[in-house]
Amino acid sequence: MNSESAKSIKVGICGFGTVGGGSYNLLQANGEEITRRVGCVIDVVRIASRSITSGDVDSTVNISNDPFDVVNDPEVDIVIETIGGFDPAFEVVRQALANGKHVVTANKALVAERGNELFAVAQENAVTLAFESSVAGGIPIIKALREGLSANKIDWLAGIINGTGNFILTEMAEKQRQFADVLIEAQQLGYAEADPTFDVEGIDAAHKLTIMAAIAFGIPLQFDKTYTEGISRITPQDIGFAKQLGYRVKHLGIARRTDNGVEMRVHPTLIPRKRLLASVDGVGNAVLVHGNAVGSTLYNGPGAGADATASSVIADVIDIARQKLAGLSKPLLPALGYLSMHDDLEVVSIEEIETEYYLRIPVNDVVGVLAKISSILQGFDISIDAVIQKELDSMTVPIVILTHKALEKKLNLAIAAIEALEDVSGEVMRIRVETFAG
Ligand code: HSE
Repeated sequence: MNSESAKSIKVGICGFGTVGGGSYNLLQANGEEITRRVGCVIDVVRIASRSITSGDVDSTVNISNDPFDVVNDPEVDIVIETIGGFDPAFEVVRQALANGKHVVTANKALVAERGNELFAVAQENAVTLAFESSVAGGIPIIKALREGLSANKIDWLAGIINGTGNFILTEMAEKQRQFADVLIEAQQLGYAEADPTFDVEGIDAAHKLTIMAAIAFGIPLQFDKTYTEGISRITPQDIGFAKQLGYRVKHLGIARRTDNGVEMRVHPTLIPRKRLLASVDGVGNAVLVHGNAVGSTLYNGPGAGADATASSVIADVIDIARQKLAGLSKPLLPALGYLSMHDDLEVVSIEEIETEYYLRIPVNDVVGVLAKISSILQGFDISIDAVIQKELDSMTVPIVILTHKALEKKLNLAIAAIEALEDVSGEVMRIRVETFAG
């Protein structure tokens, strides 16, 4: 197709929930502006959804409840997949690509866990599988990593990439609200996943981190190697101690290239209050990226919600429309941004990382316990940066320790030895600390 012959680009949508519906509405609302940008009309001709009714969309749109009606419709040029999950989403996307259709997906689980297979199908069929909306909602972070920063060797990136988790931590910190109560509100606002444990246990963030790391470092998607820890054990007490020490608690996805390979980890993290990342609140997402030429750049914006996510879905549709109009016989960009991958870069185990730590240790209020803890830490080459010991109206008091950089493997051994002390009355709470200096 060239710009002379193109009257319109035809889109089919599979799944009409928050993101699918938002994408349809955005195309209707901004259609004229988009046509000015692209040079032709982008028309939604078919939608498949179990819940859609004819009153929801324009009468010209063909609706059904079978996504394969969309995928097998010869008129459709681009399929938007917003069903989510794997079944039937995997087969819907695979079939669309095999039929020579371009696909735009918002499905981070699908990309992170089955993306390697699907990108191969896309390549065989010379079509694009685009996935901007799968990471950080409305922030164009895939484009930034794959195109804007393509002259750099990326050293590391760190992101607040789950809006629900950030919303919960923000409300807990600012309004002392209960975890469960804030989660219900996030579900009502359409931020949370169908299964909200994906949000609070870090799985959603791990999907997104897996995708970003693959693009940042030119490695295959390796979700199963991403270390994942959620926020459900974080207490208001930890948030309070972190504040006293000059930090905020954020749930971060961190990917870093080291001499040993690539670290990929999702966990609650103390970050200095003065860092811009620390002030990203509510459903906001932000990704800090360090490239060896540019230094640090920060991408900030809404990470969830209908309009924000639709903004990224439709940007992908526009990119594909432009490529079609230019008459390209295959996609301009490799899916992960690299023609020749770094297959030799191994993912480092969490035990091999080195970072600083916050430890909250519940102890019986007796003389000498702090000395015993210090001695254990010293025995594992872990030095102490700061200590808080609060007198409470109880026999059990928390000792809070910030360490200097230590090897996680040694810290684990030290924690086991500390928990075995007679006067330590419960589990040690450990939160990793990252300063992102330089
Ligand atoms: N449940 C996700 C979040 C939605 O809260 O960030 C956007 O991916």
